[in-house]
Amino acid sequence: MKNLKSKIKNICCIGAGYVGGPTMSVIADKCPDIMVTVVDINTEKINCWNEEDLKKLPIYEPNLEDVISRVRNRNLFFSNDIENSIKKADLIFISVNTPIKEKGIGSGKASNLKWVESSARQISSYAEGHTIVVEKSTLPVRTAETIKNILASSFKDNNKSFSVLSNPEFLSEGNALDDLLNPDRVLIGGEDYDSINALKEIYTRWVDSKKIICTNVWSSELSKLVANAFLAQRISSINTVSAICEASGAEVNEVAKAVGTDKRIGSKFLNPGPGFGGSCFKKDILNLVYLCNHFGLPEVAEYWEQVIKMNTWQQERIYKVVVSRLFGNVVNKKLAILGFSFKSNTNDTRESPAIELCKNLLNEGAFLAINDPKVKKNQIEKDLNLNESPDQDINFSEGGWYYEESVYNAIDKSDGVIILTEWNEYRNLDWDKISRITRKPAWIFDTRLIIDPIKVKEAGLNLWRLGDGNNR
Ligand code: UDX
Ligand code: UDX
Repeated sequence: MKNLKSKIKNICCIGAGYVGGPTMSVIADKCPDIMVTVVDINTEKINCWNEEDLKKLPIYEPNLEDVISRVRNRNLFFSNDIENSIKKADLIFISVNTPIKEKGIGSGKASNLKWVESSARQISSYAEGHTIVVEKSTLPVRTAETIKNILASSFKDNNKSFSVLSNPEFLSEGNALDDLLNPDRVLIGGEDYDSINALKEIYTRWVDSKKIICTNVWSSELSKLVANAFLAQRISSINTVSAICEASGAEVNEVAKAVGTDKRIGSKFLNPGPGFGGSCFKKDILNLVYLCNHFGLPEVAEYWEQVIKMNTWQQERIYKVVVSRLFGNVVNKKLAILGFSFKSNTNDTRESPAIELCKNLLNEGAFLAINDPKVKKNQIEKDLNLNESPDQDINFSEGGWYYEESVYNAIDKSDGVIILTEWNEYRNLDWDKISRITRKPAWIFDTRLIIDPIKVKEAGLNLWRLGDGNNR
C-alpha cells in the first residue's frame, strides 16, 4: 500500500489534450525519477501521441517535439490502460475537457462536468492506497467538492484514501512550454498539508518556491476563472476602442501603446483582433456568470456577460465590414481566408473567430479558399459542418470552400484577402505579386494589424485595417 508521506513516484494524467500532453511532458522532463503516464478515453489520440513521426502528434505546440523526443518511453508514457495507470499512481491530474453544457439546467452557461465526474468515478474504482487527486482542468468553483464526494464513496474501502487539490493551468496555447517552464505563478489550492507539499515538491524542481502560491481550494478555483475573465475583459475593451478609432480617425495601436505604457495598466493583452477564441475564455466567463446568478448577484453577472457580448459584436462587425466593402455582395466572389486557428502557433480551432466569419460568408454565398499553416482540412470540415467543395476550379458561383496549402494559390483570382490569425507566414507577403493575381478592385482586410499598410497601398490594393481611422 502507498504511504501518504512517501515521495511521489508515479503520476497519472487523465486527458491527453492541449493541457495534459504539454504539462506532463514538462513534468517528466524535469523529474526523471518520476514515472508519468498519460491516459485518455480516446485511444486514437493516445496512438497519435505514440507516433514515431513527431509531426503526427495530435497537437501542435512550439518546441513540444523536442521535449517529447527526450522523455517519451523514458519516464513519459502514453497509454490506453486507464485502470492500471490509476492503480499505480500516487498522484493523478484530471485534465479532461469541460465544455459548456448544450442542454438541461445551465445550458449555454454552466460547464458540463460529466467527464470530470466519470474521471472521479474511475479513480474511485481503481485507485489503491493513498492518492492525491489534482484538478487541472478549469472548473467551476466548488467542483473539488463534487470530486471529494465521489471519492468519499470508496473511502469505506480502507485500502483507499484521497486528498483533492486544485492546481489550475495558466498555459496559453502556442506559448505553453514557456508558460510551463517559466510560470508567473503556480497556484495550489487545498487543505491537506502533506499533499500540498508533495505537489509543491514537483514544481520546485524548476520553479522558484516564492512563485508557488498556496491557498484554499475555493480561492484557487475562483482565481482561475477571474484571471481569464480579466484577460478577456482587456481584449473586449481594446476591441471596443478599435471601433471608436475607426469611427473617429484615431489609430488603435497608437492608443494601445499610449495607454499600455502606464505601468498600472501594462502593455500585454492590448492587441485588438477579430475577437478572442480558445477553449477557456468564453467558457470561464460563462461559468462566472452562472455562479453570480446562482449566488443572487445578477448585476455582477450582467457586468461579466458584457465581455462576451462585445466579443460576439466584434466578430459580427468584421463580417459586416467585409461584405459592405465588397459592394454588399460576395456571390460569385472568391475570398482568401488566411488563418483558421484561434491564435498563431497552435492547431487548435476551438471558438476560433474564423469559424463564425466563414459560416456567415458562406451563408452569403461566397467561395472561400482557406489557408492555415497547422489546421488540417478535416478539422475545418468539422468546424464549418460542411465538406470541402468537390469542384475547386473557378466555379465560385456555387459558393462553398476548399482548403489551400499555398497562400498565393489561395489568393489567386480572389476579390478579397482576410487575415484572421497572426501567423508569421502572413506578415511579409509579396503585395506586388498579390496585386497582380487578385481580381480588381481587390480588398485586403487585416484584423490582426500584422501587415505593412504602406506596402499594400503602394501595390495598388484597397486596405481595411482594424482600428484604423484612415479606413474612412
Ligand atoms: C481541458 C479543458 O477543456 C479546459 O477546461 C481546461 O482549462 C484544461 O483542460 P484541453 O486539454 O485543451 O483543455 O482539452 P482537450 O484538448 O479537449 O483534452 C481533453 C482530453 O480529455 C481529450 O483528449 C479527451 O478525450 C480526454 N477525456 C475526456 C478523457 O480522457 N476522459 C474523459 O472522461 C473525458
Ligand atoms: C488562455 C489563458 O491566457 C491561459 O492562462 C489559460 O488559462 C488558458 O486560456 P489561450 O486561450 O490558450 O490561454 O490563449 P490566449 O493567449 O490567452 O489568447 C486567447 C484569445 O485571445 C486568442 O484568440 C487571442 O488571439 C486573443 N487575444 C489575446 C487578443 O485578441 N488580443 C490579445 O492581446 C491577446
